[in-house]
Amino acid sequence: MKVAIIGQGYVGLTISAFAGEFFEVVGFDNNQKIVNQLNSGISHIEGVESSVLQKWIKTGRYRATTSGSDIVDVDLVVIAVPTPLSKDRQPDLTYIDAACRTIGENVKKPVLVINESTSFPGTLRNYIKPAIEKYSNSPIEHLYAISPERVDPGRGDFNQKNTPRLYAGLTAEASEKTREFYSHFCDELVKVSSPEVAEAAKLFENTFRQVNIALVNEFAQITNALGISVYETLDAANTKPYGFMKFTPSAGVGGHCIPVDPTYLAAVAEENGAPATFIRRANEVNLEMSKYVVDRVQADNGGSLQGKSVLVVGVAYKPNVADVRETAAELVIEHLRNRGAVVTWHDDVVGSWRGESSAPLSGADIAIVVTKHDSVNERDILTSAPYVFDTTGKIKGVKGF
Ligand SMILES: NC(=O)c1ccc[n+]([C@@H]2O[C@H](COP(=O)([O-])OP(=O)(O)OC[C@H]3O[C@@H](n4cnc5c(N)ncnc54)[C@H](O)[C@@H]3O)[C@@H](O)[C@H]2O)c1
Repeated sequence: MKVAIIGQGYVGLTISAFAGEFFEVVGFDNNQKIVNQLNSGISHIEGVESSVLQKWIKTGRYRATTSGSDIVDVDLVVIAVPTPLSKDRQPDLTYIDAACRTIGENVKKPVLVINESTSFPGTLRNYIKPAIEKYSNSPIEHLYAISPERVDPGRGDFNQKNTPRLYAGLTAEASEKTREFYSHFCDELVKVSSPEVAEAAKLFENTFRQVNIALVNEFAQITNALGISVYETLDAANTKPYGFMKFTPSAGVGGHCIPVDPTYLAAVAEENGAPATFIRRANEVNLEMSKYVVDRVQADNGGSLQGKSVLVVGVAYKPNVADVRETAAELVIEHLRNRGAVVTWHDDVVGSWRGESSAPLSGADIAIVVTKHDSVNERDILTSAPYVFDTTGKIKGVKGF
């Protein structure tokens, strides 16, 4: 079976690497640089080993392309393109639309189309299917299914194989073929009654995290005002063996999922006349954390940051990945610069970002740890500045929540 995977980023390349063991995979991406790099056997995604790609390339099981003509004879298509927010923070389906165009214009025999991109309930039925039909210009009866991706890049314990996968087709045949496809490389498949349930479940999983992160971020402000340790209090609460799940405070939430997916749910809720107050407020609380952190740092440093050199340690949105999408570090840096601080950042995993490069981990007046990669030595952080504020809770004996 020949499989096309549209989008070769975190999700698409991860699936490609697993699927390569069983199928001939064509990785379609519209970024020529990424495609060239992949075809030379170099992975740009944490968790996808270049050696695996090289193995599949050598045996003719994997090839990346920017050309629609390379997907004309595939049997199955997976969509794994971005679903970001627009400038006015609304769901932006333009990448999905472009992927539908690629499929519609090139795939001229009936295939199974599976969407893995995260979007609101109804996207498969009311958006993807009609869009592909529109771009096909001829009546082709494709099968359509959804199987939301749950990959957590950089994570060692859970992967494609041992993370249960939800799925549902628009028809029973689509469901069954989707199950067959994933059963090659996924141990547990969970069928739900409609694509809308699978789409909503994915959004709710990330909304659950967003709301709980906001709650603990607010709680960190409460414990600080009360003069007690947030970490000790959370550890104490966590001794309860049921009904509690520990989340830890942070400078905010980043990545492509937690700051974005809940807004997809809120948008569809409000469109259908249902409230989304928790989601909206949680978003605000998480966004406000960067200001709270800078306020605390400013208060500890004589009430002014004017002219002070501040080193932000870790600008990736989470440890051990180079992903800076929606990173809280961006807002922290913005608040610091608005208050006259001279800001540099250190993150050798990210390397360069927004036209700036990672600075040495030394010589600052103030260091604020936003993300702590395993590769960063704690002692080096402690000697980088006389004042250190740690938002991760990993560094002992310094200021923090
Ligand atoms: N990253 C995660 O941890 C994660 C987890 C679960 C779900 N998701 C969801 O999966 C989807 C993809 O996310 P991602 O993190 O892989 O994104 P990504 O930015 O890492 O990769 C997307 C890739 O798609 C390519 N692309 C964009 N438009 C295209 C088009 N029209 N045709 C072909 N390629 C195109 C880009 O060049 C890029 O390489 C999103 O909906 C996201 O919400 C992501």
